[in-house]
Amino acid sequence: MTIRFDDRVAIVTGAGGGLGRQYALELARRGARVVVNDLGGDRTGTGASDAAQAVVEEIAAAGGEAMANGGSVTDYDQMVEMVARAKERWGGVHILINNAGVLRDKTFAKMEPADFEFVVRVHLIGSAFATKACWETFRAQNYGRILMTASSTGLFGNFGQANYGAAKMGLAGLTKTLYLEGAKNDVRVNTLAPTAGTRMTEDLFPAEAFKLFDPAKVVAAALFLVSEGAPTNQIVASGAGVTAAVNVTLTPGKLLTGDDLSPEGIAANWDAITDRTGEIVPKSGAEQGMLAAKALQAG
Ligand code: NAI
Repeated sequence: MTIRFDDRVAIVTGAGGGLGRQYALELARRGARVVVNDLGGDRTGTGASDAAQAVVEEIAAAGGEAMANGGSVTDYDQMVEMVARAKERWGGVHILINNAGVLRDKTFAKMEPADFEFVVRVHLIGSAFATKACWETFRAQNYGRILMTASSTGLFGNFGQANYGAAKMGLAGLTKTLYLEGAKNDVRVNTLAPTAGTRMTEDLFPAEAFKLFDPAKVVAAALFLVSEGAPTNQIVASGAGVTAAVNVTLTPGKLLTGDDLSPEGIAANWDAITDRTGEIVPKSGAEQGMLAAKALQAG
């Protein structure tokens, strides 16, 4: 069955280039009306340009409908304004892809606190602000699809990207609570960890890999995750045409009592504690407490 977005309004943040532009183009091609948000700065988040407008013109030239928005995701009022403009013109907003991002890489030893804060502000706080600006609309209409953009750095780590990694893992955490709070109103929330050759990765990838990791190859996973039949609470990795699932798991653990419940007891039982046999993927934080209760009951 063809996945279409007719009668849907989608906001893609940071859609003036890279991955966001690809998402916006394909959403529009499949019938969505798209808000192309981007303030058009450089990779570090400095400066501004009309990158969003250029993508809107590209969409229009292909017969689609889009509007540009030059607001910064770090400014909550601008996000509220962006949603208001979309609703005014098209009567609603149904999809939000939080994609805007910047890099200020340095080892933690050399990183200025301000650069840590700025990167967390754009990725994590910016995604929360854009989401918050849409949230009541999604709840009121009993429909919303939200995609957070994480990264392998956040999920698994990468030398020199402490600020970025912290923000990106934070987004997976945001997904895990918002999916619970949105479930009653059919608001589904997922996280995508893309790998793509864009300006963000141009000095990381050799030329050959850069081509293999064409950002267009991430579009399929992103669009599926904001479609009507999307799952919820999923973390998906996508790059070069390979799509994979990422899970946060919990081992069955080990019940210790008396003298064994000591740092020495933990050390002595470390292998059993970390044994992954029978590990689960909890659907909410409550399952951690339930696991302990069950272990106590079993004695
Ligand atoms: P990109 O640099 O081409 O795209 C990011 C866009 O966000 C830019 O157009 C930029 O102007 C915009 N932006 C930055 N700050 C903004 C703000 N405050 N408000 C609105 N827009 C803002 O890079 P790329 O690769 O397309 O990145 C897209 C997303 O994917 C980012 O969140 C990035 O962290 C994430 N990502 C990319 C990976 C890759 O391999 N390219 C790997 C993992 C994650």
